[in-house]
This record gives sequence, structure tokens and C-alpha cells, in this order.
Amino acid sequence: MAAPLVSVSYVSTETNPFDDERLAALLAQSRRSNHEHDLTGMLLHRRGRFFQVLEGPQDAVDALIAKIREDARHHDIRILLRENLDDRRFDEWTMGYEPIGVPSTPPPEGFRDTFDDLESADDEISSRAVRELTVWFRARTAGDR
Ligand SMILES: Cc1cc2nc3c(=O)[nH]c(=O)nc-3n(C[C@H](O)[C@H](O)[C@H](O)COP(=O)(O)O)c2cc1C
Repeated sequence: MAAPLVSVSYVSTETNPFDDERLAALLAQSRRSNHEHDLTGMLLHRRGRFFQVLEGPQDAVDALIAKIREDARHHDIRILLRENLDDRRFDEWTMGYEPIGVPSTPPPEGFRDTFDDLESADDEISSRAVRELTVWFRARTAGDR
């Protein structure tokens, strides 16, 4: 039987500012490695914070999360949600990435483009935020691939 698919989402805070170059290097390395380990997902970066969704075979996701937790480039990692998946949500992305500017208008109902407030959010708000950020990302990148 195929290994169970899981998804883990977290927020974290960068240790030193990530400029475009550092982000590009992180993404290039992550995409290569994720491809090798059958991992997919998305990464958002805004105002010094990261939001990431990682999905794939349970063992591969857990191994990467353990490495990411040890990575000194960020800290205050907070797991927002861990789910079992029937189907991947980011199967076309070895690590999708969207820069987020400062929004000029509030996002429409059911969308979310911020994650600075999730540090201490309760489980229900955290899991709703993961869903809404996923919707936002999918809408932003539709047709991009
Ligand atoms: C915000 C953030 C997201 C990361 N995402 C990934 C990722 O999706 N895939 C990956 O392989 N490494 C990712 N990394 C890097 C890992 O923490 C680690 O440096 C990398 O897996 C290299 O591991 P190695 O010691 O086996 O070479 C991320 C690091 C940070 C700070």
C-alpha cells in the first residue's frame, strides 16, 4: 500500500532578513530536494514571517519538518495544522512561492493574505487560516504554472 499522504502547515519568523536573493536560493534548493522526496507545497513570505504548507508521504514530510525546525534561518516555528490527505492540493508545485505585498484593499470573503496574527491563534482559527491562505494562493497562481 502507498504511504499515507499528510500535510503540515506552519508559521515562523525569519532570523535575519531574507532578501530576494536569499529567498531565491532557498526556493531553488527546496524545489530540487522536494522533487527528489516526492514533496509538494507552498511558501509565503511577508514582513519577516513565513507560512509554509508541506505535503507528501508521511515519513518524508516528518523528516523535512524535523530539519526545518533545526534551521537557524528562522525560529518560533508554530505548527498550525497537520492533516491526512486523500489528494494533494499542490501537486503541480515542488514549492510554490508568492511574494505578498502590502494589500491595498481587504481580501474578499473567504480569502486571507496575512499570517502575522497566527502565532497564538486557536486551532479553529489556525485551520481556517490554512484553508483561506490555500484558496488565496491558488487564485493568485491560477494559470501561472
Ligand atoms: C522557511 C523555510 C522553508 C524551507 N522549506 C524547505 C523545503 O520545502 N524543502 C527543503 O528541502 N528544505 C527547506 N528548507 C531548508 C531546510 O531547513 C534545510 O536547510 C534543507 O532541507 C537542507 O537540509 P540538508 O542539511 O539535508 O542539506 C526550508 C528552510 C526554511 C527556513
